[in-house]
Amino acid sequence: MMLSIEKLRKAFPLEEGELVAIEDFTLDVKKGEFICILGPSGCGKTTILRIIAGLDTQTSGKISLDGKIIKGPGSDRGMVFQEFALFPWRSVRKNIEFGMELRKVPVKTRHETSQKLIELVGLEGFEDAHPHELSGGMKQRVGIARALANEPDILLMDEPFGALDAQTRNMMQKELLRIWEETKKTVVFITHSVDEAVFLADRIVVMGERPSSITEIYDIPWERPRERASMEFANLRKEILAKLEMMVRPE
Ligand SMILES: Nc1ncnc2c1ncn2[C@@H]1O[C@H](COP(=O)(O)OP(=O)(O)OP(=O)(O)O)[C@@H](O)[C@H]1O
Ligand SMILES: [Mg+2]
Repeated sequence: MMLSIEKLRKAFPLEEGELVAIEDFTLDVKKGEFICILGPSGCGKTTILRIIAGLDTQTSGKISLDGKIIKGPGSDRGMVFQEFALFPWRSVRKNIEFGMELRKVPVKTRHETSQKLIELVGLEGFEDAHPHELSGGMKQRVGIARALANEPDILLMDEPFGALDAQTRNMMQKELLRIWEETKKTVVFITHSVDEAVFLADRIVVMGERPSSITEIYDIPWERPRERASMEFANLRKEILAKLEMMVRPE
């Protein structure tokens, strides 16, 4: 087991009492697995990802990566954010090399690595462009390359394609699957789109309303690329949508 989350609980202190975001969340992720997490807004998806990334800490429960307890951020985990979070004053190459600079990787290795990643994510010719010169899809390619530059074992992605138009989003999903197949990374991917989850995931984890734990896990052993127009795709999408709708209680 690569990533192991055991009885995770997260409560945020409020002026009075506390807000329990996550209650009793247990999940094991295998090496190389592609996991999608779905759930209503505010159920704690970002919180879980931040805790896995070491950017926040749980109230109780245990998370380990390859048997090692997670105690803070580390280069074994790469994060890709919804809002791109690129440095506007740095070129594509310099954005990708940022983490390697911090780790004092020698210039030559840095260049070789960033060049390989630029090719992997399909940004040849844009090495010296700055973020404002890029489309949304291209910015997210930089985001993915930057996360991969630290050679993480696991990619943590928080609605990475949420800001993209439908066509670009579909293309980026295909690109991500290609990159995933080439690099064999483990991926934990948060999305609001059931369609996206069914297209991408080996397993879909559906979370419930706060205080959230896992409501259901769907195994999707289908081959890729998946056919959105197929009956089985439509049926599974419908089933998961119905599940999510049931959870959103009327006010
Ligand atoms: N730093 C914080 N302090 C207090 N409450 C917080 C904090 N961060 C998150 N929360 C609360 O915890 C709950 C879960 O938030 P989180 O951002 O993880 O939800 P989410 O599932 O990612 O939602 P969305 O789908 O809208 O992105 C929310 O009710 C949120 O208000
Ligand atoms: Mg979120």
